[in-house]
Amino acid sequence: MKPIIVANWKMNLDYTEVTQWVTGVNQALSATDAVDVIVSPASCYLHTLASTLVGGDVAAQSISEFDMGAYTGEVSAKMAQSCGAKYALLGHSERRHVFFETNQMIKDKLALCKRYGIVPILCVGETIDERNAGQVKSVISNQLDVVSEYDDLFYVAYEPVWAIGTGQTATPDIAEEAHAFIQHVVGDGIPILYGGSVNSETIQSLLDKPSIDGALIGGASLAADSFSEILQIVSNPGVIQ
Ligand code: PGA
Repeated sequence: MKPIIVANWKMNLDYTEVTQWVTGVNQALSATDAVDVIVSPASCYLHTLASTLVGGDVAAQSISEFDMGAYTGEVSAKMAQSCGAKYALLGHSERRHVFFETNQMIKDKLALCKRYGIVPILCVGETIDERNAGQVKSVISNQLDVVSEYDDLFYVAYEPVWAIGTGQTATPDIAEEAHAFIQHVVGDGIPILYGGSVNSETIQSLLDKPSIDGALIGGASLAADSFSEILQIVSNPGVIQ
């Protein structure tokens, strides 16, 4: 499996910045086929990105738990798919904590992903209080429960909440321990990505771990230069086996 690198822009970048980013990152992408790149923009850029990004795929940051209808402001799985999204992030900690996304909502979104042929990227991870209370495995198990009967391809992203946007990347050993547990729960053949303050300094030691198949990158994906640098490190076959 090639390493999988996902850029999660969150609610950042305006239209001009998006077009400049694509120009810069397309250069890096044209220089490698050793990495699978997925870019997750705000939904208003899905179509532009899907039609201008060369050699990478596009993911929705969220989809509605409803299929269609009178839900002002929502973007459906079908809409995202028709704008070029092949993947969708589900259950990102910001969705869980700021927008109160529940396991039931995530289950409904999973069903819509399946219906419209979108590969879900299920985000899981514990808060610092949960980690300190020794609850890492029980929290992750509960979050993974939504895919216990999902019979199509999905990805998992392990994103400890205390590592997101804090500059405090999980050590490779801490991440590997959680990844090995996730792999034990979901089985082989499900890619498991690490997310939380990944940058060009930390990416390589994380990917060196056997259960870490890629990374979900927020802050360090926003500038074309820093994201391209990460792609260059990941695609260097002399460094990453
Ligand atoms: P970060 O975000 O890389 O800025 O920590 C990761 C994420 O939330 O997906």
